[in-house]
Amino acid sequence: MTDTTDLSIKSIEAIGQFFKIRKAKIAQNIFFISETDSTNDIASAYAQSGCPEGTVIIADRQLKGRGRLGRKWFSPPGKNIYMSIVLRPEVPPQHSTIITIMASVAVAIAAMQISRINARIKWPNDIMVSGKKLAGILSEIRIENNKILYVVIGVGININTAPDEMPDEIKKTSTSLYMETAETINRASAAMFILEEMNKWYNQLNNSGNAPIIRRWTKLSTTIGKTIRVASGAHVFEGTAEAIDNDGFLLMRLIDGSLKKISSGDVTVIQ
Ligand code: BTN
Repeated sequence: MTDTTDLSIKSIEAIGQFFKIRKAKIAQNIFFISETDSTNDIASAYAQSGCPEGTVIIADRQLKGRGRLGRKWFSPPGKNIYMSIVLRPEVPPQHSTIITIMASVAVAIAAMQISRINARIKWPNDIMVSGKKLAGILSEIRIENNKILYVVIGVGININTAPDEMPDEIKKTSTSLYMETAETINRASAAMFILEEMNKWYNQLNNSGNAPIIRRWTKLSTTIGKTIRVASGAHVFEGTAEAIDNDGFLLMRLIDGSLKKISSGDVTVIQ
């Protein structure tokens, strides 16, 4: 049976109405698209043409969904959430990593509100459940005259994908809320939880700065305190993940005792 309250123009308009009444920073302007290459592309085009901060694009399906480090993002119709949020933070560009860190905290907490699961974050922003990837965040930034013009936060979260629907290349490493709980989730209400938490943590960032987000991220982290391997550009580092700094960069104690600050990369937890 089709769930008529699942993702549709109507359900998405109702979400926009809810956030409008509350004069929220995020999701007062929200658009549903049944199919697009990537919601990040639509959000970037809207942002470039001056859309208000907090504009959200949600799609039922992406034809060219993309992930971090040039990877593809599995984006079949009728199953998951693919959304992009336009932010215009008053943060110097060199400190913009905190925006992605903020988004990962919001998505991990929302995932735990949507389903009874234990979500954790692998640096910088992979949302993991039982060691498998549930959701990912792709932030794309536009800087002009050393100022952030906009950041697009792209969120992909596997909701109702069944095990036999996962492509072979991600079968062993990915999960969905359905795979964790055997329950089908209404995607409009899941989107609502995510946007609610995004609002909350973005306000927290604007009002109280980075520290509360860094603290919460650290509590949710699967990375800190672990022996890890990080592929960063052409380099691979091994050592212990000690902390993230106030910007969200990873501080890693290398085998020779030196402390290395990592701004981007792919982490493998060794033990
Ligand atoms: C990752 O973990 O590699 C990031 C995945 C981000 C996927 C989302 S889905 C919505 C938005 N549109 C995209 O093309 N990518 C992001």
